[in-house]
Amino acid sequence: MADFKWHPNEPPPSIEEHSKAKLDVLRSYLRAYFDRLSINPSRDQFKLDLIDGFAGGGTFLAGDEIVSGTPLIMLEESEAAIDRLNQSRTKTLHFDFKYYFVDIEAAHTNHLRKVLDERGYQVDSERIVVHNSRFEDVVDDIIAEIRRRQPRAGRSLFLLDQCGFSQVEISLIARIFSELPAAEIILTFAADALTNFLAETPEFVRMVTPLELTEQRISDLIQLRNGDGGRALVQRILRGHIRNATKATYDTPFFIRPRQSRRALWFLHLSRHPTARDVMIQCHWNNYNKFEHYGPGGFDMLGWDALNSETLPLFHFEELDAEAMRRQLLNSMPNELFSLASEEPVTIDTMRHMFANRTAARFSDLDSVVLELFREREIEILRPDGTVRSRALRRVTPTDRIAFPQQLLLPGTSRRR
Ligand SMILES: C[S@@+](CC[C@H](N)C(=O)[O-])C[C@H]1O[C@@H](n2cnc3c(N)ncnc32)[C@H](O)[C@@H]1O
Repeated sequence: MADFKWHPNEPPPSIEEHSKAKLDVLRSYLRAYFDRLSINPSRDQFKLDLIDGFAGGGTFLAGDEIVSGTPLIMLEESEAAIDRLNQSRTKTLHFDFKYYFVDIEAAHTNHLRKVLDERGYQVDSERIVVHNSRFEDVVDDIIAEIRRRQPRAGRSLFLLDQCGFSQVEISLIARIFSELPAAEIILTFAADALTNFLAETPEFVRMVTPLELTEQRISDLIQLRNGDGGRALVQRILRGHIRNATKATYDTPFFIRPRQSRRALWFLHLSRHPTARDVMIQCHWNNYNKFEHYGPGGFDMLGWDALNSETLPLFHFEELDAEAMRRQLLNSMPNELFSLASEEPVTIDTMRHMFANRTAARFSDLDSVVLELFREREIEILRPDGTVRSRALRRVTPTDRIAFPQQLLLPGTSRRR
């Protein structure tokens, strides 16, 4: 993984293709985040804290052009949203954003201060704070400040764009979620590099201390990597480990695959909110070609349950993939729904949450497959009062319930495959 260097008296570093992809998706995620906010029309103020914990120097060179790095993207996208969101409102909404940019290297924060200054931003004001520190040394102060500003909601977006896989202490993320349940966290993670470097040496064990990987776990992972399970199984276990250790409810892991090295970087979105996860998935669909993943499009598409990921096709979030995903979901959903709802009906909301970490489908995709199965009489859809909806139903609501017709003994038997 590239280790970028900035210095205030020198041009910024040249950007690489995978870093460019990462910047594009961050921009589009922020755009989608703001556009999906449903802010009560009677409200007149909206607060949000944006934290870039591994901020770098603020800009890159792309050929002769200077392009914005992550701290500038946070500023640009949040400012653009102010105008966009106010256009459709009668009562003006005042946005109160606060930004915290942290980097361990003084030369990097000095470069960042310079580019912010050149663009007219007031650094170290009430609004923008630049810390030259280790993120882990200032995170508690930042959390306290967010709680002071937003005692109830604690609405915040954290970007932890580390180099490699072991700079972010996983326990910090759990702490952020426990103090700020509304937080969303984007973590970059060099999953392939970690898989390659796995070793039982004291240096490696020390290196991955921040990840809370025990020696036993490392030894198991090495055995899996070298055995039939291969890299896909190692990465599936890593993914589960990160989700559990960070105490995130939802995770959306996707690959950014640099062309030269072919070593995948995960862009991992962690949250405790289903809507946050859905915005992230939508964003992947909008950015097709930037992300890809092993596996088909239905359940377990992420390749985690496939024994040998090398032989799986890549999923690119394109139209053809969308159609293939719909077909696969139509085939696999009856069994999945049967496991969920055979004993008693489950709400659409529960169905969405149960499937969220297992597929690239947006909630709208899952809903439309459920509707199709309802039209084909594979399942019933009940109103909250228990009465059956009409087969002409066009949209489900989160409180509708999925049930199985009594006469259906085996799920999926009426579907043609
Ligand atoms: C991948 S670069 C960030 C690039 C930036 N996010 C962008 O795309 O515009 C990672 C940065 O993290 C900084 N860093 C490394 N360890 C850190 C730590 N413990 N706390 C804060 N910053 C750290 C490095 O100095 C480097 O500038």
